[in-house]
Amino acid sequence: MTGRLALAGGAPVWSGDWPGWPQLGPHTAERVAQVLNGERWAISGHWTGRPAIEVELAERFAEFVGARWCVPVDHGSSALITGLHALGIKPGDEVIVPGLTWVASASVVARTGAIPVLVDVDPDTLCIDPQAVEAAITPATVAVMAVHLYSAMADMDALRAIARRRSLALVEDAAQAYGSTWNGAGAGSLGDFGAFSAQQGKTLTAGEGGLLVTSDPGLRERAEMVRGDGRRYTLGPREVGRPELEELSLVQGWNMHISEVQSALLLDGLERLPEQNACRAAAAEVLDKALGAEGDLEPIKPYAANDRRAYYHYAIRLRPGAFAGRSAATVCRALSAELGFWVHTPYRPLNGHPLYDPRRLPGLADQDFAWKFDPARFELPVAHREAERTVLLHHPMLLGSPGHTQAVVDAFDKIRRLADQLPA
Ligand SMILES: Cc1ncc(COP(=O)(O)O)c(C=O)c1O
Repeated sequence: MTGRLALAGGAPVWSGDWPGWPQLGPHTAERVAQVLNGERWAISGHWTGRPAIEVELAERFAEFVGARWCVPVDHGSSALITGLHALGIKPGDEVIVPGLTWVASASVVARTGAIPVLVDVDPDTLCIDPQAVEAAITPATVAVMAVHLYSAMADMDALRAIARRRSLALVEDAAQAYGSTWNGAGAGSLGDFGAFSAQQGKTLTAGEGGLLVTSDPGLRERAEMVRGDGRRYTLGPREVGRPELEELSLVQGWNMHISEVQSALLLDGLERLPEQNACRAAAAEVLDKALGAEGDLEPIKPYAANDRRAYYHYAIRLRPGAFAGRSAATVCRALSAELGFWVHTPYRPLNGHPLYDPRRLPGLADQDFAWKFDPARFELPVAHREAERTVLLHHPMLLGSPGHTQAVVDAFDKIRRLADQLPA
């Protein structure tokens, strides 16, 4: 075979640029400047005679998801914590969480004092396995968290049926699923509440930020107060120069407000999101077809009800023995070298993740119930097997030209052809 892998000093398949992320739209800078030149940078600031930008963001985002309300917050983790508190999750409760997700999905549960119970994932979607959920329910279980991971939604029909039958709350961590739908209903609108992250890498971003959506009036009301130190927008008349938030003594809250600058960025990004999502989906379709054709790579198989997919990462799995039996991590290194873009493997499953061990929370290790928080007590064989054979392409790679998409196909082809040059 002729040629050398870029990893071994050969010429790379692609040496051009990739789309950057985050991206500015034509009005982004102007919108942010308007906030900066105004007198209200936060909803805790004074009433200036017109509603906060955050109010418009909440309306638009709820509409986008198909929920009745949205409560914007400062991080995706805050959206989860706010929702869990508003649901009334308390110390000692158990919340079932998939073992393959970003650490925050589980660490926020521990922060409420509740016990994150890790369960395995479905190999076709990498999302929480409903059968594993059913098997993990105990008398202490109060909620299940579905995480829509990378580019697929969890089986919301099965999870909703379990939640209904066992009287459990159903939470959607939709941080990665802006615009995904399940039988036409938006990700985030199918559980008691949905939580989105607007952190730098997400498909809707303000650098940091978060959004909680719900159609439950009581939950919405409590969430608004939880994220605002107990304050909420006054129901009475506003006075210019005075705070618009009123102080109530109904819940113990924390300040998890989003700023007006972040709200302006998210409103702006939301306008461009559907077009970007369509561009990502079109590129992913080309990749599924081209990469899946050789037989050594296995695309994600979403549920039929997941009728519109949103891509946070494009994920594809190496079949056993593919690429001369090298690991996905090695193939990722080779792809990164060929493409000039960081290609990587999934999260480490949470029963062995260096950033996840709730027993490190102050005071917890000394308690006699600390063992319940030990991540290593959960078995996640499918999560481990799938994480070890999966390659992820971050979504900006799907926002380029047909030439960019072809470069990905060419890079896989080249590595397949020269797999013997891959380090063992
Ligand atoms: C699935 C998932 N859940 C929760 C979060 C937490 O969001 P944030 O980092 O905005 O707090 C993230 C963000 O990386 C995520 O990907």
